[in-house]
Amino acid sequence: MASLLDTMERRLADLDAASLRRSLQPPRGLDLSSNDYLGLASHPAWVAGIQRRLAEQGTDPRAAVASPASRLLRGNTERHMALEARLAAWKGTSAALLFTSGFQANVGLLSTVVEGRDRVISDIANHASLIDGLRLARCRKVLVPHLDLDAIERALASEGPAGGRTFLLTESLYSMDGDIAPLDVYAELCERYGAELIIDDSHATGIYGEKRGSGLCEHFAVADRALAVVSTFGKALVSSGGFVAGSQVLIDYLVNRCRAFIFTTAAPPLHLYAVEAALDLVEAEPQRRQRVLELATTLRRRLRQGGLDCLGSRGPIVPVWVGDAERSLAVAAQLQDEGFDVRAIRPPTVPTGGARLRLSVHADHRPEDLDHLAERLLAILPAAVRANAP
Ligand SMILES: Cc1ncc(COP(=O)(O)O)c(C=O)c1O
Repeated sequence: MASLLDTMERRLADLDAASLRRSLQPPRGLDLSSNDYLGLASHPAWVAGIQRRLAEQGTDPRAAVASPASRLLRGNTERHMALEARLAAWKGTSAALLFTSGFQANVGLLSTVVEGRDRVISDIANHASLIDGLRLARCRKVLVPHLDLDAIERALASEGPAGGRTFLLTESLYSMDGDIAPLDVYAELCERYGAELIIDDSHATGIYGEKRGSGLCEHFAVADRALAVVSTFGKALVSSGGFVAGSQVLIDYLVNRCRAFIFTTAAPPLHLYAVEAALDLVEAEPQRRQRVLELATTLRRRLRQGGLDCLGSRGPIVPVWVGDAERSLAVAAQLQDEGFDVRAIRPPTVPTGGARLRLSVHADHRPEDLDHLAERLLAILPAAVRANAP
């Protein structure tokens, strides 16, 4: 039998041959690939907000970065709990619980609340962390085509598992397609068929929600109709970490039963300051969310008018369909050489044959830079995509 490392090497070579091998690249050029939709990472007030909090804590840096225990031991502070209360009020639920990443939040939540005898109706485009959470839950999975309401209703109406519950699992703003799930319709269907709704609101957090900017659960007024709403800080809030928002009972249950919460170290205070400072800015500058949506709409309109396929996208994520993985890499490389940090998204992140460029529009992008990007894309891509058409 080949050695394990030889096997790995061969598999990497296979990925290479299929243009599917990944490698880590530092950022270069205009940022069109991070999820800093509101442009907070380079906002002086965000940094100032963190610095002010650091100064308030005194001069000992350990007070900001030390995190010597899990929340259930000495890792918990008043500050963690205050942030959770703020997040719950912001999302419109009665409680919330911090996790060290959005991935952990999804895996932890699903592996705790979904049990082996349950079935989960899950959109085929759901994020890897949702899929892995279901794997850990060892439940029955019913995969439905992306945003297919009929398929969802058919699945909900079909007989559920004896002695088990049914869940509907969805993202709100889809990360690779940039389209939006009709959460109000989902909530109604779940109520009609007695199913539990779980929503990953990660990409919409900070962008949607007319009043508070807390996400699409606010926009569709469904936060209190879902069992749980999950979000990450790693998109518009430009920090690391994530949280689950829901009823007090759900959060108490997670504190007692969720292994991804119980058996891990608490976030250090510095992370909390970063999130607090980002939340302050979402509150203080609602015009940022309006601006990013306007910029994305203009870019999308130009690309579509030029014949490119931006799928069903509506928000700050503008996918541009290419199809072939190798071609998507070549186009991304050309754009990078021209100063645009555009990345190709390839399988297995997207389905086979569905490679695309994923443009992430930010509130602080200059319209002239996006115009120039559109011009270059329209010069490079239509021929490439046509050549690739089936
Ligand atoms: C929809 C969705 N959920 C969860 C996550 C995971 O969040 P985090 O990056 O905080 O682990 C991501 C990030 O890639 C995501 O796109």
